[in-house]
Amino acid sequence: MSERVRIYEVGPRDGLQNESAAVPTEAKIRFIELLSEAGLAEIEATSFVSPRAIPQLADADALLRGIGRRAGVRYPVLVPNTRGLERAEAAGADAIAVFTAATDAFATRNIGMTIDESIEAFRPVLARARDRGWWRRAYVSTAFGCPFTGWVDPESAVAVALRLLGLGIDEVCFGDTIGVGVPTQVTELVARATAAGIRHEQIALHFHDTRGTALANVAAGLAGGIRCFDASAGGTGGCPYAPGAAGNLATEDLVYFLDASGWEHGTSLEGVLRAARFIAGELGRPLESKVGQAGGWDPESGAATSRGT
Ligand code: COA
Ligand code: ZN
Repeated sequence: MSERVRIYEVGPRDGLQNESAAVPTEAKIRFIELLSEAGLAEIEATSFVSPRAIPQLADADALLRGIGRRAGVRYPVLVPNTRGLERAEAAGADAIAVFTAATDAFATRNIGMTIDESIEAFRPVLARARDRGWWRRAYVSTAFGCPFTGWVDPESAVAVALRLLGLGIDEVCFGDTIGVGVPTQVTELVARATAAGIRHEQIALHFHDTRGTALANVAAGLAGGIRCFDASAGGTGGCPYAPGAAGNLATEDLVYFLDASGWEHGTSLEGVLRAARFIAGELGRPLESKVGQAGGWDPESGAATSRGT
């Protein structure tokens, strides 16, 4: 099993979609550039969704065109339907993520479609993206718990994942949208998914740290053989259609944890903290993540590191 972990950065998309502060397009572009300078190789840049649904990301077209792309970095964008795909294509996308949920209740509120309807809506989107040679991810939100129906049976999350994989995607990402999951659930979900024939490298995990369980969940995912985790620099994020959703796992917390545990990932803690401080400044609030506050730690000297502004 590989010792290398992929960190999939969602700060510019999941991180900013639920913020009340309006962040100028130029600042979002700078944020994305700082993230790529930190060594992050997958940065979910924005969403081509209805601007009425997510006004914070209404500038997706200008943003994607404006990014100074770094070689070797993937910039996926969220796309809910054919309209979104066309916008993404015109703006130069070459990697997309579609998104549904493990429960009809959440899918209906978030994207106005049942799970069945979303699968049908994604079919032409993913087919066209495949024809273009684009990288394709699909999210299964509320895979551990739903704000409207409660605990989610891992079998139902796996069933949705299998249908999405049947549409031809590179990766399925199980999301703990409202941050209620615990490690035993992660272990169970990964076991059921792989028993159903999904390969480890086709699975990514997306945790919110709403109740402080995100890193414990990552540890369970790693132990189960998963090597791709989502995180958001600064720990921003949440879904406006998920009552009670709070921040994503902070990228800096994940990077510290992976570094100290000996995993390779190619991302600099110092660089992530620079990006995290930048976006916190744009949002007008202090950096709230654990490592954002405490800094890293040098095991040679025992001193905290990367605490500069
Ligand atoms: N980009 C821009 N506008 C879009 C769009 C897209 N991808 N898809 C639909 N629209 C517009 C339509 O033109 C229509 O505009 P109008 O009211 O001015 O005529 C409006 O959005 C509604 O479109 P409709 O097809 O009736 O869909 P809907 O109202 O059921 O909304 C979604 C469906 C998927 C477009 C909407 O729910 C959505 O964008 N959800 C995203 C939620 C999200 O991003 N959540 C966070 C991520 S987890
Ligand atoms: Zn999220």
